[in-house]
Amino acid sequence: MRVIGIESTCDETAAAVVEEKLGGVGAEILSNEVMSQIARHAAYGGVVPEIAARAHIEVLDRLIGRALADARTEIGQLDAIAAAAGPGLIGGVLVGLTAGKALALAAKKPFIAVNHIEAHALTARLTEGLGFPYLALIASGGHTQIVAVRGVGDYQRIGATMDDAAGEAFDKVGKMLGLPYPGGPELEALARQGDAQRFDFPRPMIGRPEADFSFSGLKTAARQALLRLGGALSEVDRRDLAASFQAAVVDVVIDRLRVALRIFSKTDERLQGLAIGGGVCANMALREALSRLCGESGLRLAMPPPELCADNGAMIAFAGLERFKLGFVDDLSFAPQPRWPL
Ligand code: KG4
Ligand code: ZN
Repeated sequence: MRVIGIESTCDETAAAVVEEKLGGVGAEILSNEVMSQIARHAAYGGVVPEIAARAHIEVLDRLIGRALADARTEIGQLDAIAAAAGPGLIGGVLVGLTAGKALALAAKKPFIAVNHIEAHALTARLTEGLGFPYLALIASGGHTQIVAVRGVGDYQRIGATMDDAAGEAFDKVGKMLGLPYPGGPELEALARQGDAQRFDFPRPMIGRPEADFSFSGLKTAARQALLRLGGALSEVDRRDLAASFQAAVVDVVIDRLRVALRIFSKTDERLQGLAIGGGVCANMALREALSRLCGESGLRLAMPPPELCADNGAMIAFAGLERFKLGFVDDLSFAPQPRWPL
């Protein structure tokens, strides 16, 4: 069984073909084409929705063609067409969703509308074959949440951010440090040589009994520290600030996961592991801390490679495949969902 997946909810245009792995969980990625629009948005310090939508239109046809060619697959050989239908920027979502529906209509194939967050939550099954139930940490530029995944389509939100997403906080502090958009990867690089102890940043929500997140206070603390340092920041100041900020984010995420694990342990289900997804989960300091957390709790950690944590088409194709195998097929009248909580 082969499924193509189309992604266009933010600033990556992507298309990929995956094939069912017979006799096991997971799938084979036959092709995975991703085209980032970052260069077009960088001058504005963030994603400009109208530019994003137009850029998706410009490249999507070609990208779909390349994904099929790389996978040596004709449209007729596909079993289903999947496209992300949200949540995300409405203009971009419309582009990918309409392309997916048109392909399905023309090729007379079943169409599957995929929730982008669901796709991040299921990626660990694609790459690691993780079984249900598991906890998924999803941390990206638009979302930060912990979800109990009991089956395909069976999700329970255990915690979520009350203000900024983790990636948004990285991007905003990155901007304060003069880093180009998106700040996350650059801030991580800067933090590598910094002193994480130098700035005593708050750890918002730590110790709270529910597993929610908050990052806006941390962002404000970073801004105040910058103001105290005055106008001219030395390279050492920038590194130390980046390292101290990143350490605070990592501490918060780990503490919130501990609480989520505690909440889950009150059910009588046997957890199969912790899965991660979303661009922030490409962060090596976070990945190391997650390894320690799972090591000490004897929990399996299912970490997709960084490129599959970030937005991609394979995760949409795989979520489509999982839904299709269970008989979930959508109507071509399926509307784009700018907001679509799991
Ligand atoms: O999942 P994603 O590619 O797109 C969304 O759905 O938002 O995540 C992008 C976010 C951006 O905020 C980016 O700064 C952040 O993930 N990010 C990182 C790293 N790589 C990407 N944040 C921290 N460390 C990284 N290495
Ligand atoms: Zn995403």
